[in-house]
Amino acid sequence: MRHFVTILILAALPLAGQGNRATRPKIERPDGPVWEVIRKNCTACHGIDDYAFFALDKAGWSKLIAEKHKPADANLSEADRNLLLGWLAERFGPATKPFPRTYIPPEITTFFSDPEAFRLMNRACTRCHAIDKVQGARKAAEDWRVTLVDMRERGAQLSDEELERLVEWLDRVWGTNQDK
Ligand code: HEC
Ligand code: HEC
Repeated sequence: MRHFVTILILAALPLAGQGNRATRPKIERPDGPVWEVIRKNCTACHGIDDYAFFALDKAGWSKLIAEKHKPADANLSEADRNLLLGWLAERFGPATKPFPRTYIPPEITTFFSDPEAFRLMNRACTRCHAIDKVQGARKAAEDWRVTLVDMRERGAQLSDEELERLVEWLDRVWGTNQDK
């Protein structure tokens, strides 16, 4: 029994101190020339993760950037501008799903057993891809959360509670701490 209690406490730890902040997207840097344009013109003031809140075509991106900045702050050469807008419209285009601004993780008090986690993934994930794809990725809890919120935007059917329980389970079983 004592052992059981310890496991529950350990399992709850990653959630401590998480507060009520909304989950934020995480974006991988593009390579090469596009990154050069962004590094030179965009990252002095803020990171690139917020781009994921939008899903726009080239004209939409151009308008958004104009609206959010003083002309002098987003003053790119024509060539750089085309490169950047082309990448934005492809990576965060109208066919993609914008990352939600408002997902706040609920606190969970019960935790998935392995069969429960697999049952949920079989229901909510395998319509689009095998669970191998999930198992192949090792992530910390907050990165699993970003992935699951993204998957939900794409169409995975999960309640907030199910999402958080799966985050906790994925971190426990397929997290970055190899000792677990
Ligand atoms: C001089 C500082 C500065 C530079 C350089 C800058 N930004 Fe911004 N950016 C801001 C500020 C400040 C805001 C918030 C403005 C607001 O919310 O009204 C912002 C907002 C944004 C937003 C909206 C974010 C959101 O969550 O709503 C996007 C997208 C964005 N910037 C992209 C870019 C891109 C792309 C570049 C490079 C071409 C760039 N920014 C360069 C200061 C900068
Ligand atoms: C509506 C279709 C769809 C559903 C449902 C779905 N996914 Fe995905 N998933 C995708 C697509 C498309 C990709 C590849 C996108 C990419 O790599 O950017 C992907 C990629 C992934 C990846 C690898 C990329 C990463 O961010 O690590 C993981 C892990 C993942 N999905 C987990 C899940 C889990 C867990 C579920 C169920 C809760 C799920 N997915 C449900 C469409 C879906």
